[in-house]
Amino acid sequence: MAIAKVGVVGCGLMGSGIAEICAKAGLSTIVREVSDEFLKKGQERINGSLAKAMKRAIEKEKKDPTMAQMEMAQSIGRLSYTTRLEDLKDCDLVVEAIIEDKGQKQDLYKQLDALCKPSTIFCSNTSNISITELGAVTRRADKFAGLHFFNPVPVMKLVEVIKGVLTSDATLGELKGFSEKVGKTAIVAKDTCGFVVNVLLVPYLFDAIRLVENGVASIRDIDTGMKLGCGYPMGPLELLDFVGIDTTYHISVNMFEEFKSDRYAAPPLLKKMHLAGLHGRKTGKGFYDYTDPANPVPMKLA
Ligand code: CAA
Repeated sequence: MAIAKVGVVGCGLMGSGIAEICAKAGLSTIVREVSDEFLKKGQERINGSLAKAMKRAIEKEKKDPTMAQMEMAQSIGRLSYTTRLEDLKDCDLVVEAIIEDKGQKQDLYKQLDALCKPSTIFCSNTSNISITELGAVTRRADKFAGLHFFNPVPVMKLVEVIKGVLTSDATLGELKGFSEKVGKTAIVAKDTCGFVVNVLLVPYLFDAIRLVENGVASIRDIDTGMKLGCGYPMGPLELLDFVGIDTTYHISVNMFEEFKSDRYAAPPLLKKMHLAGLHGRKTGKGFYDYTDPANPVPMKLA
């Protein structure tokens, strides 16, 4: 089966990026959000990102401006927006990127299972909820898998393809082909909490928080250390603000529950920042204060 029409459920940061890369790759893409307000926000984010990509193509890749504008218009033309889940019924692939809540995801999949054609493949962009457990509420566990993208989706080249216990080889093959079509390199992982990247990334981020807790170095110096010492595009504390302190806290709760290992135990400072609403860039304050977004200032964290 060739994937020609994609449904994206949830148009936040991840969903909008996923919809954007699908439309750019020539796929008819329908985006569903729960309200017109969220849908409008998502559409604005997608259009803004497409405009940024067009500007880059013209300025950096020296693409013909008329051609670049035409391609952007074509991408926009491939996108449609709805609040009705029924409008996704004839999609070949549905990618879900709603909040990381198992119950809400399972409710959604039950509804999609009743609506969509039997051949539709379902994928979750979850970073740590069991794919097998989500697929189990549908009658198509063989056509159910994880597709875990990275933020910002239009820029990061990786996607983790997650095989649930019952995911078929045919489904994996389709998803590898889809990943290539949308310009990503796929790595395949078993359905274990955190898959590959977060199993490695989360302990690293937590060690950086422990350096702050122990007063080993300043926030700025820890970030500078990893950027200049190891060539990372962002330091660990900048990355935590980028991913979200709340998101990382919830990931840690799930990973600790799964592995019962100190490696994934949330450092007390992470929990306190989460409780204090210091969620990073999205709330304007985290390890840094983003009052002036061009010049973030390290926070004084007691
Ligand atoms: N479409 C296409 N290209 C775009 C774009 C878009 N919408 N937005 C930006 N770009 C391009 C830019 O043109 C630029 O290209 P060049 O390098 O060729 O100039 C490049 O992407 C970088 O963009 P910017 O110059 O605007 O920004 P930057 O240099 O400050 O980089 C960043 C920003 C890409 C976010 C970089 O800091 C980075 O890679 N950070 C690390 C991000 C990361 O680790 N993400 C993974 C988080 S973990 C996760 O997501 C999973 C989880 O489960 C927690």
